[in-house]
Amino acid sequence: MELKRNSSEGIESWNEVILVYNAALKQVQTKMEILNDEFQHVHQYNPIEHIKARIKTPESIVKKLKRYGKESTIENMIEYVNDIAGIRVICSFTSDIFRIAEMIKDQKDIQVLTTKDYITYPKASGYKSYHMIVTIPVYLSDRIVDTKVEIQIRTVAMDFWASLEHKIHYKFEGEAPDYIRNELIECAQMVSDLDARMLSLNEEILKLSRKREGYA
Ligand code: GTP
Ligand code: MG
Repeated sequence: MELKRNSSEGIESWNEVILVYNAALKQVQTKMEILNDEFQHVHQYNPIEHIKARIKTPESIVKKLKRYGKESTIENMIEYVNDIAGIRVICSFTSDIFRIAEMIKDQKDIQVLTTKDYITYPKASGYKSYHMIVTIPVYLSDRIVDTKVEIQIRTVAMDFWASLEHKIHYKFEGEAPDYIRNELIECAQMVSDLDARMLSLNEEILKLSRKREGYA
């Protein structure tokens, strides 16, 4: 599988494109780490459990372009594939997801292209996550390239569900039997209940520790 190269315009080679996406990914990752460190400093608490970053493989880029009915060119991949650079931010609690999303929206150099709130409106599969497609400027020696990054924000529990569901989905090539699909939807509900209980437990703990410190 080869991406056709059109050297007449824009970024010329695959390597250069990937270099730019890698730079954008590093920048967003660093921003997330800085927000987390600052949060720890101000609130003595880390909203981010961990971060996963990846560049899409050429195979999946070509597959996605095919699905979109587009020819496999570098121009098309830049225009139509929004998740070449992808970052997953795994949070402790549901409330952290929206807090982090707001903090990203407030960053002046980040432009938010789209957001999808699958937390408030989960997918039919049961999938929950908050998605943002953003652009971030990458400063090269002779130009600035606004580069797209997909940010997925979710809790540890949502991530656990999504990884397993993804594996099952893959195993059945997207055609899992109904009873398995229904079981997964039930599991997603259990994950939501768990997140809600953990959140209220955390609020109780915070209340208690504030009382103990004499603030309340
Ligand atoms: P893709 O073209 O598949 O990327 O989807 P989209 O352009 O409609 O965007 P969407 O925001 O719905 O999904 C983007 C990404 O979220 C996917 O590539 C997956 O990583 C993840 N995702 C979306 N739906 C599901 C789901 O039902 N299960 C799991 N495990 N992941 C999902
Ligand atoms: Mg994707």
